[in-house]
Amino acid sequence: MKSFIAGLPKAELHLHIEGTFEPELMFKLAERNGITLPYESVEALHKAYDFSNLQDFLDIYYQGMNVLRTEQDFHDLTWAYLQRVSEQAVSHVEIFFDPQGHVERDISFETALNGIYSALQQGQKQFGISFGIIMCFLRHLDEDDAFKTLEMALPHKDKIIGVGLDSSETGNPPSKFERVFAKAHAEGFHVVAHAGEEGPPEYIIEALDLLKVERVDHGNTCLKDAELVKRLVAEKMPLTVCPLSNTKLCVVDDMKNHPLPEMLKAGLQVMINSDDPAYFGGYLNENYEAISGLLNDDKELLAELAKNSFQSAFISDEGKAAGIQKINDYVTQFNAG
Ligand code: HPA
Ligand code: ZN
Repeated sequence: MKSFIAGLPKAELHLHIEGTFEPELMFKLAERNGITLPYESVEALHKAYDFSNLQDFLDIYYQGMNVLRTEQDFHDLTWAYLQRVSEQAVSHVEIFFDPQGHVERDISFETALNGIYSALQQGQKQFGISFGIIMCFLRHLDEDDAFKTLEMALPHKDKIIGVGLDSSETGNPPSKFERVFAKAHAEGFHVVAHAGEEGPPEYIIEALDLLKVERVDHGNTCLKDAELVKRLVAEKMPLTVCPLSNTKLCVVDDMKNHPLPEMLKAGLQVMINSDDPAYFGGYLNENYEAISGLLNDDKELLAELAKNSFQSAFISDEGKAAGIQKINDYVTQFNAG
């Protein structure tokens, strides 16, 4: 099954580039920038990656981001991610970045964006990986701050395809950002939001009704509301599920209880993503491997998940069809042995 997953063509739709910051690279960039990390070694940092909820993780995630100072740092971070996924049959990525996490440290919006963008361009050239950049608003900050961030993005519509919403979910409902999402929508950005990771099904409903999202990031808690599930199925609303993230952040107590099989059975448009792979113990292949047993290693179901990743991407209909065709050809070839 490992070899089937390894070669299966896939797209990644839920990935925070700051969450790909591997401890080895963090130490290297800290040294380059003259920063002392509050950890003695790569191993000590790894040991700190023991979270009991989303906030536990976010505290360490924002601390890690402090090391990113120059355009070259953002480039190197993104390049390291692309090198990894280029070995995982990933041919399209839509990646999040958190501009407010940098601007509040006096790192300019452009420093972050340009570093990420130049690496993605290089990845497209060298590995043939197509891409989109989605900037997320930090939901623990207020809507005014999100508006300011949206203003910063307006001159960069050629580089940014969408806006999202991330950070601490509980107590920060989508309704807090209704106006700024309306503006982002009017400006032509795609819109997505994290909802239903720790928050209740009502937050998913708000993301749909008030933010008019085109995808729901995570969305796990929809299963608590049968009417909502029916609606998500009817609207073919993509849910970007992240298995290793869910167990690391205790959204799911054990991988054997992960709701993905139930979500697939319900007819939800789900696919697999890695969220913050450096912190959660695996990139896309490892996330597929983590869930494969729950699906009885059914190659058709794994292929369906990968097809959903292309189907739900912000790419042309031709691009989606090409991704799906690549998967069909791969499965045929694999089965022919
Ligand atoms: N949830 C919310 N905010 C985040 C996450 C996440 O999984 N990763 C990075 N920021
Ligand atoms: Zn996320």
